[in-house]
Amino acid sequence: MKYKVPFVDYPKHYHSMQGEIDTAISQVLNGGDFILRAHVRQFEADIASYVGVDYGVGVNSGTDAMLLSLLAAGIGPGDEVITVAHTFVATVAVIIHCGAKPVLVDIGEDFNMNVTQLERAITARTRAVIPVHLNGRLCDMEKLMSIASKRNLCVIEDAAQALGATFDGRKAGSFGLTGCFSFYPAKALGGIGDGGMAVTNSQGVAEKMRALRDHCVIRGTGEIVGYGYNSRLDNLQAAVLDVKFKYLPQWIERRRELASMYEAGLTGLPQVKTPPYPQPGRYFDIFTNYVLRAQRRDELVAYLIESGIEILVSWPVPMHRHPALKLGHFPLPETERVSQEVLSLPLHTELSNKQVEYVIDCIRKFYSRK
Ligand SMILES: Cc1ncc(COP(=O)(O)O)c(C=O)c1O
Repeated sequence: MKYKVPFVDYPKHYHSMQGEIDTAISQVLNGGDFILRAHVRQFEADIASYVGVDYGVGVNSGTDAMLLSLLAAGIGPGDEVITVAHTFVATVAVIIHCGAKPVLVDIGEDFNMNVTQLERAITARTRAVIPVHLNGRLCDMEKLMSIASKRNLCVIEDAAQALGATFDGRKAGSFGLTGCFSFYPAKALGGIGDGGMAVTNSQGVAEKMRALRDHCVIRGTGEIVGYGYNSRLDNLQAAVLDVKFKYLPQWIERRRELASMYEAGLTGLPQVKTPPYPQPGRYFDIFTNYVLRAQRRDELVAYLIESGIEILVSWPVPMHRHPALKLGHFPLPETERVSQEVLSLPLHTELSNKQVEYVIDCIRKFYSRK
Protein backbone atom coordinates (compact mmCIF):
# COMPACT_ATOMS: atom_id res chain seq x y z
CA MET A 1 0.00 0.00 0.00
CA LYS A 2 1.27 3.46 -0.91
CA TYR A 3 0.65 5.78 2.03
CA LYS A 4 -0.09 9.50 1.74
CA VAL A 5 1.93 9.88 4.92
CA PRO A 6 4.46 7.06 5.26
CA PHE A 7 5.96 6.28 8.65
CA VAL A 8 9.45 6.75 7.19
CA ASP A 9 10.57 7.65 3.67
CA TYR A 10 13.93 6.00 3.05
CA PRO A 11 14.21 6.78 -0.69
CA LYS A 12 13.43 10.49 -0.18
CA HIS A 13 15.93 10.60 2.69
CA TYR A 14 18.63 9.05 0.48
CA HIS A 15 17.86 11.37 -2.44
CA SER A 16 18.35 14.41 -0.19
CA MET A 17 22.11 13.57 0.01
CA GLN A 18 22.53 11.04 -2.78
CA GLY A 19 25.72 12.54 -4.27
CA GLU A 20 27.60 12.42 -0.98
CA ILE A 21 26.43 8.92 -0.09
CA ASP A 22 27.26 7.54 -3.54
CA THR A 23 30.75 9.08 -3.33
CA ALA A 24 31.35 7.52 0.10
CA ILE A 25 30.20 4.09 -1.10
CA SER A 26 32.34 4.31 -4.19
CA GLN A 27 35.41 5.25 -2.11
CA VAL A 28 34.89 2.22 0.12
CA LEU A 29 34.47 -0.11 -2.86
CA ASN A 30 37.41 1.30 -4.80
CA GLY A 31 39.65 1.21 -1.75
CA GLY A 32 38.59 -2.32 -0.79
CA ASP A 33 38.05 -0.93 2.69
CA PHE A 34 35.56 -3.39 4.11
CA ILE A 35 36.52 -4.48 7.62
CA LEU A 36 37.59 -2.20 10.51
CA ARG A 37 39.28 0.41 8.36
CA ALA A 38 39.75 4.17 8.79
CA HIS A 39 36.05 4.97 8.32
CA VAL A 40 35.16 2.96 11.43
CA ARG A 41 37.84 4.69 13.51
CA GLN A 42 36.78 8.13 12.27
CA PHE A 43 33.11 7.49 12.94
CA GLU A 44 33.89 6.14 16.43
CA ALA A 45 35.89 9.29 17.20
CA ASP A 46 33.11 11.54 15.85
CA ILE A 47 30.35 9.91 17.90
CA ALA A 48 32.44 9.74 21.09
CA SER A 49 33.30 13.42 20.80
CA TYR A 50 29.66 14.37 20.05
CA VAL A 51 28.46 12.47 23.13
CA GLY A 52 31.30 13.94 25.20
CA VAL A 53 33.13 10.73 26.14
CA ASP A 54 36.56 9.29 25.37
CA TYR A 55 35.93 6.11 23.37
CA GLY A 56 33.51 4.72 20.80
CA VAL A 57 33.41 1.07 19.78
CA GLY A 58 31.56 0.41 16.54
CA VAL A 59 29.60 -2.83 16.50
CA ASN A 60 27.08 -4.53 14.28
CA SER A 61 23.96 -3.34 16.15
CA GLY A 62 22.57 -1.61 19.21
CA THR A 63 21.84 -5.08 20.54
CA ASP A 64 25.49 -6.14 20.49
CA ALA A 65 26.57 -2.76 21.90
CA MET A 66 24.58 -3.74 25.02
CA LEU A 67 25.60 -7.41 25.04
CA LEU A 68 29.31 -6.63 24.77
CA SER A 69 28.93 -3.89 27.40
CA LEU A 70 27.44 -6.37 29.87
CA LEU A 71 30.18 -8.90 29.11
CA ALA A 72 32.92 -6.28 29.40
CA ALA A 73 31.46 -5.23 32.75
CA GLY A 74 31.75 -8.83 33.93
CA ILE A 75 28.00 -9.44 34.25
CA GLY A 76 27.05 -13.11 34.00
CA PRO A 77 25.37 -16.09 35.65
CA GLY A 78 24.07 -15.42 39.16
CA ASP A 79 23.70 -11.69 38.52
CA GLU A 80 20.45 -9.76 38.27
CA VAL A 81 20.03 -6.87 35.85
CA ILE A 82 17.10 -4.46 36.19
CA THR A 83 15.35 -2.97 33.19
CA VAL A 84 11.85 -2.29 31.80
CA ALA A 85 9.39 -4.34 29.73
CA HIS A 86 8.26 -1.33 27.68
CA THR A 87 11.18 -1.54 25.28
CA PHE A 88 12.32 -3.43 22.22
CA VAL A 89 12.94 -7.07 23.17
CA ALA A 90 16.70 -6.65 22.55
CA THR A 91 17.15 -4.85 25.89
CA VAL A 92 16.05 -7.96 27.77
CA ALA A 93 17.52 -10.50 25.35
CA VAL A 94 21.06 -9.29 26.03
CA ILE A 95 20.60 -9.91 29.77
CA ILE A 96 19.56 -13.49 29.01
CA HIS A 97 22.39 -13.95 26.49
CA CYS A 98 25.09 -12.95 28.98
CA GLY A 99 23.68 -15.53 31.41
CA ALA A 100 22.20 -13.06 33.92
CA LYS A 101 18.60 -12.79 35.15
CA PRO A 102 16.37 -9.93 33.96
CA VAL A 103 14.30 -8.15 36.61
CA LEU A 104 11.60 -5.96 35.09
CA VAL A 105 10.18 -2.81 36.67
CA ASP A 106 7.33 -0.57 35.60
CA ILE A 107 7.43 2.73 33.73
CA GLY A 108 6.18 6.22 34.50
CA GLU A 109 4.23 8.89 32.58
CA ASP A 110 7.24 9.53 30.31
CA PHE A 111 7.29 5.84 29.18
CA ASN A 112 10.68 5.45 30.90
CA MET A 113 11.76 3.50 33.98
CA ASN A 114 10.00 4.39 37.21
CA VAL A 115 13.08 4.99 39.35
CA THR A 116 11.23 4.52 42.63
CA GLN A 117 10.49 0.98 41.52
CA LEU A 118 14.10 0.51 40.54
CA GLU A 119 15.17 1.08 44.12
CA ARG A 120 12.62 -1.44 45.41
CA ALA A 121 13.72 -4.11 42.94
CA ILE A 122 17.38 -4.12 44.03
CA THR A 123 18.54 -7.31 45.79
CA ALA A 124 21.92 -8.60 46.96
CA ARG A 125 22.38 -10.11 43.47
CA THR A 126 21.66 -6.95 41.48
CA ARG A 127 24.75 -5.92 39.53
CA ALA A 128 23.48 -3.65 36.80
CA VAL A 129 20.63 -1.51 35.53
CA ILE A 130 19.74 -0.77 31.91
CA PRO A 131 17.72 2.44 31.65
CA VAL A 132 16.08 2.81 28.23
CA HIS A 133 15.82 6.37 26.90
CA LEU A 134 12.70 5.62 24.92
CA ASN A 135 11.49 7.73 21.99
CA GLY A 136 14.47 10.08 22.31
CA ARG A 137 13.81 11.28 25.86
CA LEU A 138 16.19 10.46 28.68
CA CYS A 139 15.23 8.77 31.93
CA ASP A 140 15.53 10.84 35.08
CA MET A 141 19.28 10.28 35.21
CA GLU A 142 19.78 12.40 38.31
CA LYS A 143 17.74 10.02 40.46
CA LEU A 144 18.85 6.91 38.61
CA MET A 145 22.58 7.65 38.86
CA SER A 146 22.26 8.52 42.52
CA ILE A 147 20.56 5.17 43.28
CA ALA A 148 23.10 3.31 41.14
CA SER A 149 26.07 4.89 42.85
CA LYS A 150 24.60 4.38 46.35
CA ARG A 151 23.93 0.69 45.59
CA ASN A 152 27.08 0.15 43.56
CA LEU A 153 25.27 -0.81 40.33
CA CYS A 154 26.77 -0.68 36.89
CA VAL A 155 24.69 1.45 34.48
CA ILE A 156 24.50 0.43 30.82
CA GLU A 157 22.38 2.99 28.95
CA ASP A 158 20.10 1.74 26.21
CA ALA A 159 20.37 4.94 24.18
CA ALA A 160 19.37 3.19 20.94
CA GLN A 161 16.70 5.86 20.36
CA ALA A 162 18.45 8.82 21.95
CA LEU A 163 21.61 9.92 20.12
CA GLY A 164 21.73 13.69 20.67
CA ALA A 165 19.13 13.87 23.45
CA THR A 166 20.27 15.47 26.71
CA PHE A 167 19.35 15.58 30.39
CA ASP A 168 20.65 18.50 32.46
CA GLY A 169 22.83 19.39 29.47
CA ARG A 170 24.54 15.99 29.31
CA LYS A 171 24.09 13.75 26.30
CA ALA A 172 22.48 10.32 26.38
CA GLY A 173 25.20 7.71 26.63
CA SER A 174 27.53 9.83 28.77
CA PHE A 175 26.14 8.85 32.19
CA GLY A 176 26.71 5.11 32.48
CA LEU A 177 29.69 2.80 32.22
CA THR A 178 28.65 2.60 28.59
CA GLY A 179 26.00 4.19 26.37
CA CYS A 180 24.65 2.05 23.55
CA PHE A 181 23.39 3.40 20.23
CA SER A 182 21.60 1.78 17.32
CA PHE A 183 21.98 2.92 13.72
CA TYR A 184 19.01 0.87 12.53
CA PRO A 185 17.75 2.75 9.43
CA ALA A 186 14.68 4.30 11.13
CA LYS A 187 16.70 5.92 13.93
CA ALA A 188 17.50 9.65 13.95
CA LEU A 189 20.91 8.67 12.55
CA GLY A 190 20.28 5.51 10.55
CA GLY A 191 22.55 3.44 8.34
CA ILE A 192 21.84 1.55 5.14
CA GLY A 193 21.51 -1.62 7.17
CA ASP A 194 22.36 -2.56 10.75
CA GLY A 195 24.93 -0.86 12.93
CA GLY A 196 25.58 0.19 16.50
CA MET A 197 28.09 1.69 18.88
CA ALA A 198 28.96 1.63 22.56
CA VAL A 199 30.63 4.71 24.02
CA THR A 200 32.52 4.88 27.31
CA ASN A 201 35.06 6.83 29.33
CA SER A 202 36.76 3.62 30.44
CA GLN A 203 39.78 2.63 28.38
CA GLY A 204 39.67 -0.87 29.86
CA VAL A 205 36.02 -1.39 28.89
CA ALA A 206 36.64 -0.02 25.38
CA GLU A 207 39.58 -2.41 24.92
CA LYS A 208 37.54 -5.38 26.13
CA MET A 209 34.70 -4.52 23.75
CA ARG A 210 37.08 -4.05 20.83
CA ALA A 211 38.40 -7.55 21.51
CA LEU A 212 34.95 -9.08 22.03
CA ARG A 213 33.57 -7.67 18.76
CA ASP A 214 36.43 -9.30 16.83
CA HIS A 215 36.59 -12.85 18.26
CA CYS A 216 39.01 -11.69 20.97
CA VAL A 217 41.82 -11.79 18.42
CA ILE A 218 44.38 -9.09 19.16
CA ARG A 219 45.20 -7.61 15.78
CA GLY A 220 48.94 -7.38 15.24
CA THR A 221 50.04 -10.09 17.66
CA GLY A 222 47.35 -12.63 16.75
CA GLU A 223 46.96 -13.52 20.41
CA ILE A 224 43.48 -14.83 21.25
CA VAL A 225 42.39 -13.63 24.67
CA GLY A 226 39.04 -15.40 24.99
CA TYR A 227 35.92 -16.46 23.12
CA GLY A 228 34.41 -13.48 21.39
CA TYR A 229 31.94 -12.68 18.64
CA ASN A 230 31.81 -11.33 15.12
CA SER A 231 30.14 -8.04 16.02
CA ARG A 232 32.10 -5.53 13.97
CA LEU A 233 30.56 -2.39 12.50
CA ASP A 234 30.90 -2.65 8.72
CA ASN A 235 33.31 -0.12 7.30
CA LEU A 236 30.74 0.66 4.59
CA GLN A 237 28.11 1.49 7.20
CA ALA A 238 30.60 3.69 9.07
CA ALA A 239 31.46 5.59 5.89
CA VAL A 240 27.80 6.30 5.08
CA LEU A 241 26.89 7.07 8.70
CA ASP A 242 29.72 9.58 8.96
CA VAL A 243 28.41 11.39 5.88
CA LYS A 244 24.95 11.55 7.45
CA PHE A 245 26.23 12.42 10.93
CA LYS A 246 26.99 16.05 10.07
CA TYR A 247 23.29 16.62 9.37
CA LEU A 248 22.16 15.17 12.70
CA PRO A 249 21.83 18.51 14.58
CA GLN A 250 19.64 19.98 11.84
CA TRP A 251 17.58 16.79 11.63
CA ILE A 252 17.03 16.91 15.38
CA GLU A 253 15.84 20.52 15.09
CA ARG A 254 13.37 19.49 12.39
CA ARG A 255 12.13 16.57 14.51
CA ARG A 256 11.53 18.93 17.42
CA GLU A 257 9.71 21.37 15.14
CA LEU A 258 7.43 18.61 13.82
CA ALA A 259 6.77 17.45 17.40
CA SER A 260 5.78 21.03 18.32
CA MET A 261 3.31 21.05 15.45
CA TYR A 262 1.72 17.82 16.66
CA GLU A 263 1.69 19.16 20.20
CA ALA A 264 0.01 22.42 19.14
CA GLY A 265 -2.53 20.61 16.96
CA LEU A 266 -3.51 17.93 19.44
CA THR A 267 -3.31 19.40 22.93
CA GLY A 268 -6.73 20.13 24.27
CA LEU A 269 -8.24 17.15 22.49
CA PRO A 270 -9.58 15.24 25.51
CA GLN A 271 -9.32 11.78 23.96
CA VAL A 272 -5.54 11.91 23.42
CA LYS A 273 -2.55 12.57 25.58
CA THR A 274 0.52 13.99 23.86
CA PRO A 275 3.98 12.88 25.02
CA PRO A 276 5.87 14.75 27.74
CA TYR A 277 7.19 18.00 26.36
CA PRO A 278 10.88 19.01 26.46
CA GLN A 279 11.77 21.14 29.49
CA PRO A 280 14.42 23.72 28.59
CA GLY A 281 17.59 23.09 30.58
CA ARG A 282 16.36 19.72 31.88
CA TYR A 283 15.11 17.50 29.04
CA PHE A 284 16.18 18.05 25.43
CA ASP A 285 14.17 15.43 23.51
CA ILE A 286 14.95 14.34 19.97
CA PHE A 287 11.60 12.66 19.19
CA THR A 288 12.87 9.49 17.57
CA ASN A 289 9.19 8.57 17.88
CA TYR A 290 6.14 10.73 18.52
CA VAL A 291 3.94 8.62 20.78
CA LEU A 292 0.37 9.47 21.71
CA ARG A 293 -1.86 7.78 24.25
CA ALA A 294 -5.33 7.58 22.78
CA GLN A 295 -8.81 6.42 23.70
CA ARG A 296 -10.19 3.75 21.34
CA ARG A 297 -6.63 3.31 20.09
CA ASP A 298 -7.25 0.38 17.77
CA GLU A 299 -10.20 2.08 16.04
CA LEU A 300 -8.16 5.26 15.64
CA VAL A 301 -5.23 3.32 14.14
CA ALA A 302 -7.57 1.58 11.65
CA TYR A 303 -9.09 4.96 10.69
CA LEU A 304 -5.70 6.59 10.18
CA ILE A 305 -4.44 3.70 8.07
CA GLU A 306 -7.61 3.89 5.95
CA SER A 307 -6.88 7.60 5.55
CA GLY A 308 -3.45 6.79 4.12
CA ILE A 309 -1.39 7.42 7.25
CA GLU A 310 1.09 4.74 8.26
CA ILE A 311 1.04 4.12 12.02
CA LEU A 312 3.20 1.98 14.27
CA VAL A 313 2.11 0.56 17.61
CA SER A 314 5.04 -0.16 19.92
CA TRP A 315 4.14 -2.45 21.58
CA PRO A 316 0.55 -3.80 21.50
CA VAL A 317 1.47 -6.86 23.59
CA PRO A 318 3.78 -5.94 26.45
CA MET A 319 6.97 -7.95 26.36
CA HIS A 320 6.36 -9.80 29.62
CA ARG A 321 3.05 -11.09 28.17
CA HIS A 322 4.77 -13.11 25.41
CA PRO A 323 4.68 -16.67 26.85
CA ALA A 324 7.90 -17.75 25.10
CA LEU A 325 9.90 -15.17 27.05
CA LYS A 326 8.83 -16.58 30.45
CA LEU A 327 8.62 -13.14 32.07
CA GLY A 328 4.94 -13.21 33.03
CA HIS A 329 5.61 -13.13 36.79
CA PHE A 330 6.41 -9.40 36.89
CA PRO A 331 3.43 -7.19 37.85
CA LEU A 332 3.65 -4.18 35.53
CA PRO A 333 0.24 -2.44 35.47
CA GLU A 334 1.39 0.83 33.88
CA THR A 335 3.26 -1.03 31.12
CA GLU A 336 0.06 -2.98 30.40
CA ARG A 337 -2.10 0.15 30.35
CA VAL A 338 0.29 1.94 28.05
CA SER A 339 0.41 -0.98 25.61
CA GLN A 340 -3.38 -0.63 25.16
CA GLU A 341 -3.21 3.10 24.44
CA VAL A 342 -0.04 4.01 22.54
CA LEU A 343 0.44 4.72 18.86
CA SER A 344 3.36 6.33 17.06
CA LEU A 345 2.60 8.99 14.47
CA PRO A 346 4.86 9.51 11.44
CA LEU A 347 7.75 11.79 12.34
CA HIS A 348 10.80 11.91 10.10
CA THR A 349 12.89 14.58 8.46
CA GLU A 350 11.19 14.25 5.07
CA LEU A 351 7.73 14.87 6.53
CA SER A 352 6.16 18.13 5.34
CA ASN A 353 4.18 20.56 7.49
CA LYS A 354 1.19 19.79 5.24
CA GLN A 355 1.43 16.08 6.04
CA VAL A 356 1.52 16.82 9.76
CA GLU A 357 -1.55 19.05 9.40
CA TYR A 358 -3.31 16.23 7.56
CA VAL A 359 -2.53 13.75 10.38
CA ILE A 360 -3.82 16.21 12.99
CA ASP A 361 -6.99 16.82 10.94
CA CYS A 362 -7.65 13.11 10.60
CA ILE A 363 -7.25 12.52 14.36
CA ARG A 364 -9.61 15.40 15.14
CA LYS A 365 -12.10 14.16 12.55
CA PHE A 366 -12.05 10.66 14.02
CA TYR A 367 -13.03 11.89 17.49
CA SER A 368 -15.65 14.31 16.19
CA ARG A 369 -17.54 11.54 14.33
CA LYS A 370 -19.45 10.28 17.38
C1 LIG B 1 15.07 0.77 22.67
C2 LIG B 1 15.88 -0.12 21.76
N1 LIG B 1 16.81 -0.92 22.29
C3 LIG B 1 17.57 -1.71 21.51
C4 LIG B 1 17.42 -1.73 20.15
C5 LIG B 1 18.24 -2.67 19.33
O1 LIG B 1 19.02 -2.03 18.36
P1 LIG B 1 19.45 -2.81 17.03
O2 LIG B 1 18.23 -3.04 16.21
O3 LIG B 1 20.43 -1.89 16.37
O4 LIG B 1 20.08 -4.08 17.47
C6 LIG B 1 16.48 -0.90 19.55
C7 LIG B 1 16.30 -0.90 18.09
O5 LIG B 1 15.28 -0.89 17.52
C8 LIG B 1 15.67 -0.07 20.38
O6 LIG B 1 14.74 0.73 19.85
